[in-house]
Amino acid sequence: MILLGIDTSCDDTSAAVVCDGWDILSNIVSSQTEIHMKYGGIVPELASRRHIEMIWPVVDEALIQAGVLLDKIDAMAVCHGPGLIGSLLVGCGFAKAVAYARRIPLMAVNHLEGHIFSSFLEHKSPAFPFLSLVVSGGHTSLYLVEEFGRYYELGRTRDDAAGEAFDKVSKLLGLGYPGGPIIDKLASVGNGKVFNFPRAYLPESLDFSFSGLKTSVRNKIQESGVRNKGTLNREHLSDEFIKDIAASFQAAVVDVLVRKVEWATVKTGIKRVTISGGVAANAALRSRMAELAGEKEIELFLPSRHLCTDNAAMIAAAGHHHFMTGEKVDMELNPKAYLPLGKPVA
Ligand code: KG4
Ligand code: ZN
Repeated sequence: MILLGIDTSCDDTSAAVVCDGWDILSNIVSSQTEIHMKYGGIVPELASRRHIEMIWPVVDEALIQAGVLLDKIDAMAVCHGPGLIGSLLVGCGFAKAVAYARRIPLMAVNHLEGHIFSSFLEHKSPAFPFLSLVVSGGHTSLYLVEEFGRYYELGRTRDDAAGEAFDKVSKLLGLGYPGGPIIDKLASVGNGKVFNFPRAYLPESLDFSFSGLKTSVRNKIQESGVRNKGTLNREHLSDEFIKDIAASFQAAVVDVLVRKVEWATVKTGIKRVTISGGVAANAALRSRMAELAGEKEIELFLPSRHLCTDNAAMIAAAGHHHFMTGEKVDMELNPKAYLPLGKPVA
């Protein structure tokens, strides 16, 4: 069963051809980073316009790389939210048109469900039930995945997503966008013990909070930077200082994420964990999670870095399961910017 997956939820245009829900024949991601970099964040209108330009070339490239003609595609899966509405509309409109013209089934996939299913694209799939930390630019949530289609949200961020905090700290330091990979690299050569930034453990729940940390980093930068008529002269921040800020900030984020995953395994008694979303590409988070897994005998599923960040193969993997359970959609499909996954758990 050959499925074409599409993801246009944010600023990447992606198409993938996946066989039987796990075998990736191609997974093309066209990044818009260059377009948005100069604004220090994503400009939604520019993102949707670029998706319109890129959707056909990206799908063509996915078919060519997979060595598959469009008439050999058995079904399609498209991300219908959450995300930027203009961006989602491009992917959904495209997928509906192709599915209708080719008379093939179409499945709608929640982007967060896609991230969870990125762990099914490699080696061994996790057995149900498992815990899943989705940690990206828009979301930081911990799910209990009872089985396919049964998701319970154990905790979520009360303010910023972890990836958003990485992006904001990078911006505060006058570095580029997206901030996660830049901070990751700088942190590897910085000292994470120089600044003791706050960790919001919120011990009464499995929720997260990163806005206090971000404010604390901003205060530290402002204290240390040279001020000129109220604006910060970032060029006066030393390389050493920037590296240590990056490492100390990252250490605080990673400590909280790792601790929360540990608590979730204790609370639920489930010792099988998947991690996904862009921040799951972070080197420190990956190694600290692997350490925790070793110490506490947790079965850990960490997708390769390129499957952690947004991609359409994960949409195809989840779409395959929708197909198997007969959950198809029709031409009435409309994307939704706000689309929570699963039920919250008290
Ligand atoms: O999953 P994703 O590609 O898109 C969303 O669904 O949001 O995640 C993007 C986020 C961005 O905030 C980016 O800065 C962050 O993931 N990110 C990272 C790393 N690579 C990407 N954060 C920390 N370390 C990384 N290596
Ligand atoms: Zn994502």
